[in-house]
Amino acid sequence: MELWQIRGGRRLHGGCTVQGSKNATLPILAASIVCPCRVELQNVPQLSDVDTALEILRALGCRAGREGERVWIDSRTLSSAAIPHRLMEKMRSSVFFLGALTARCGEAQLSLPGGCQLGKRPIDLHLAAMRQLGCEIEEEGGSILCRSRFLHGCELTLPFPSVGATENIILTACAAQGETVLHGAAREPEITALCRFLRAMGADIVIEASGTVHIRGMSAREHVRFVIPPDRIVASTLCCAAAASGGDIVLRGADPTEISAVLYFLKAAGCAIIHNKRMLRLRAPRRLHAVGELCTAPYPGFPTDAQPLLMAALLRAEGTTRITETIFENRFRQVPQLRRLGADIAVRGRTAEICGVERLFASELTATDLRGGASMVLAGLCAEGETVVCDTGHITRGYDGLDRVLRGLGADVTWKALPSYH
Ligand code: UD1
Repeated sequence: MELWQIRGGRRLHGGCTVQGSKNATLPILAASIVCPCRVELQNVPQLSDVDTALEILRALGCRAGREGERVWIDSRTLSSAAIPHRLMEKMRSSVFFLGALTARCGEAQLSLPGGCQLGKRPIDLHLAAMRQLGCEIEEEGGSILCRSRFLHGCELTLPFPSVGATENIILTACAAQGETVLHGAAREPEITALCRFLRAMGADIVIEASGTVHIRGMSAREHVRFVIPPDRIVASTLCCAAAASGGDIVLRGADPTEISAVLYFLKAAGCAIIHNKRMLRLRAPRRLHAVGELCTAPYPGFPTDAQPLLMAALLRAEGTTRITETIFENRFRQVPQLRRLGADIAVRGRTAEICGVERLFASELTATDLRGGASMVLAGLCAEGETVVCDTGHITRGYDGLDRVLRGLGADVTWKALPSYH
């Protein structure tokens, strides 16, 4: 069990550097086995999900380790195509190894990724596309056996721009004979990062302006160096934290174009934002305004991952905001917890209506999922008294030292891990 203690009421001020991106790192770690090579990654965030991915790599026979923000992998020694169930169930992102192992070994054996709290999260789109690329896939009692004697490029259209399916297709197609053309691909910056990494590995990948991706196999390189880009959801979290607390912060390393949908609504809420290539400054008024209607959508739309974070910032805004969640069916799990602080939120179907209140009061909350948990920490920043968020490790799956970063910005936040007696 982990405890976050937040004494609200301090306005965030000062500057910080945004950590490396979790959602870029995880598929790139899987991609490191697509061909036998040595990979060196820099700016890798210190997260439990990254540790799990490194454990999976070692279970597959690779050598992998970490020194500070640098991670190295030697995938030349890979000797297995089966991922142990205890590692698969730890993290949903282990599903990327399906495409990566199939590309490398012509085979992958794994169990279905752990059931997640955000909704059903099937992988039917991943499997249908991989079958079109020449895979035979058997699903039985929660395990998947994927085999391919001959992977062949083909023309594919995703009916929905799934991020994970796009990544698995690109990974598999790197080992296919001939060209794969993927229409309807997801356009999240993490997809671009994966393609840049695979290109550094020797893959021939082109992303058209329309979003269509062309993959024409790869001529493997022996050694790859890559710098993980900054995490746009962490940047959004810090902007929302500053907005929630009436703060004035400077972020270094964040790419403002990648978070423009979030910045758009923070501006509408009354924040002043200036940025150049190297830094972004957000100055919030003492009280935000509600922003009317907002819908989550695939990139470049408003990210579902930032929805609970903006919700936390708007709990004390003047007026009413309606947020419609279109990506996941179960992504308002933070709401009953935020209500314990005095928030006025009504949920009808996929829409949450937030009527800003003047004051929030500290309470004891339980983190429900990664971004939902972070939203509770943010709400605690503007609640009166000491808010406690009890967490079973959701928040540290995605944030590298969030307590340290917030303290650096003047917040009164502490984090501690309590011993487990199980
Ligand atoms: C990734 C991100 C996650 C983010 C999400 C949406 C990583 C590690 N995780 O998750 O943080 O919230 O994108 O931006 O990058 N779907 C299907 N069938 C499929 C695949 C997806 O129906 O085969 C549905 C899902 O149930 C969900 C929606 O499509 O409702 C979006 O899922 P997807 O884009 O695949 O998200 P993830 O890759 O799981």
